Amino acid sequence: MKKIYLLIALPVIVFSFAVAAYAIHEIIPSETQIVMPGPNAEKLNEYIVRYDPYKSWELWPKKGKLYKGTEPHGALLTTFINSTAHFSIKKKKGMEDGSIIVKENYSADKKFAALSVMYKIKGYNPDGGDWFWAQYDPDGKAIAAGKVKKCIDCHSTKKDNDYIFTGGVKR
Ligand code: HEC
Repeated sequence: MKKIYLLIALPVIVFSFAVAAYAIHEIIPSETQIVMPGPNAEKLNEYIVRYDPYKSWELWPKKGKLYKGTEPHGALLTTFINSTAHFSIKKKKGMEDGSIIVKENYSADKKFAALSVMYKIKGYNPDGGDWFWAQYDPDGKAIAAGKVKKCIDCHSTKKDNDYIFTGGVKR
């Protein structure tokens, strides 16, 4: 008699677990489901504003908010780095695939003027450090994006440091 109960109960238990696991998966999708954007200015903007909001990222190490900048980026700057970029800066071996640097550019009177972004996409542009360059106006509209010559030309002076000015990422 007991055996029969067990035979009935076991599938019911297994089925309930399966349903619960499926339900949990539906409610809490794993982080891996949010895929990194490709070399696309709109997708990148959506990613850094909606999916992985850059304002919750770390600031560039030892740089506060609204620190003094130089031309052409504006008088005051706040630079955010995603977790991959943060990890890369610590490792000092250059920036890894998926690194994103987001820099808010402000005028001297603290007016938000533009967002300048560098996004590392392996294989995208080997001649230019595989960086995808983007600049957005305060409304989030892309002013420049892609293999932008003026960005690359100036940042090339820091080629030995993976095209980065703000701090050492290789040593
Ligand atoms: C004439 C030189 C020049 C040009 C052109 C330029 N940058 Fe920069 N960029 C700098 C300098 C210098 C810094 C360091 C911060 C500062 O002092 O302004 C910087 C910093 C940055 C940073 C922070 C990471 C780093 O390298 O330190 C990003 C992101 C960035 N620039 C994006 C861009 C994008 C996107 C463009 C093109 C739309 C661009 N830059 C064009 C000179 C330039």
